[in-house]
Amino acid sequence: MKTILTGDRPTGNLHLGHYFGSLKTRVELQKEYETYIEIADVQALTDNFHDPEKVRKNVRELAIDYLSCGIDPKTTSTYVQSQIPEIAELTIFFSNLVTVSRLMRNPTTKAELAQKKGLFGQNGESITYGFLGYPVSQAADIAVFNADLVPVGEDQIPHIEQTREIVRKFNTIYGDTFREPEAYLSQSKRVKGLDGNEKMGKSLGNAIYLKDDLETISKKIKNAVTDPQKIKKDDPANPEVCMVYYYHQLIQNDQLETVCKECKAGSRGCVACKQELIQKMMEFLKPIQEKRAYYEAHPEEVERVLKEGTRKAKEKAQNTMRKVKEQMKIDYHYIKEGNDE
Ligand code: TRP
Ligand code: SF4
Repeated sequence: MKTILTGDRPTGNLHLGHYFGSLKTRVELQKEYETYIEIADVQALTDNFHDPEKVRKNVRELAIDYLSCGIDPKTTSTYVQSQIPEIAELTIFFSNLVTVSRLMRNPTTKAELAQKKGLFGQNGESITYGFLGYPVSQAADIAVFNADLVPVGEDQIPHIEQTREIVRKFNTIYGDTFREPEAYLSQSKRVKGLDGNEKMGKSLGNAIYLKDDLETISKKIKNAVTDPQKIKKDDPANPEVCMVYYYHQLIQNDQLETVCKECKAGSRGCVACKQELIQKMMEFLKPIQEKRAYYEAHPEEVERVLKEGTRKAKEKAQNTMRKVKEQMKIDYHYIKEGNDE
């Protein structure tokens, strides 16, 4: 059985961009692959080091989002990154195999630096060692499970490429140890924001969250961007440029053809069209939100899932590190593993 490793930073709740961008695929793939999902709290701290409370709170929130969407603890191990120190250890070993200039060229890191000027300075002059190096730690995340496949959104491709380079180098120097992982992109890829922005994002304020209630969703959809040419209720319009239509499509409204036809004919007003989307959106989210309510009422079950997932992940990581240390000729055993003495 092949192995999947993927993960998210616990910095907020998941939205439709995450759902269609990768979560849905993960739920489908977990049946055929040995699956590990990382709640990347150590990575989250690289740009939230000043706010540990936020990261801690979101570890549980993220776990609940996963379970609500159908991540199955029977087939998938969901674990908390900080609880597997083997990852940190491998990060140190990997850090010899990548140059600082290569890390500076990583396009995702560059884009994030531009967004985080408050934290890392106008031109990134205050960038920390930890933030610059987080792709190395991500390479360790993936390699410690010897993952074949990494289902992620498009923005993560540079990190997977970086991982491949690092493990290739490791294998060349220390002997064949790791597989070169591949990114797995789901078909729907990037989900646009309610404002028409190419990307739905937390920081962009244009997202629908999986846990949003009726009131929140109504407010957001009422503000969504429609065809600007349509002024009056019975003006014909072009659904292709309308975000409301885009979301009707995304959640597969079974009346999609009617929406399209009526919009083009001018026999559908935007207010009614949005109302219909609000209702369909709530229907779409209902099973997810019902599960969330269950897990919110049973926090001990969430804890159990994380505990068991972390235990399994740790076992696998320890096995890999034994091999890594042999390959690197640092397999001393001055201190016995475990505490059974
Ligand atoms: N960098 C990813 C994100 O921001 C999260 C992540 C951490 C991840 N470790 C990973 C993704 C390993 C895939 C594999 O979304
Ligand atoms: Fe968009 Fe619907 Fe208005 Fe057409 S009728 S422009 S699809 S909101």
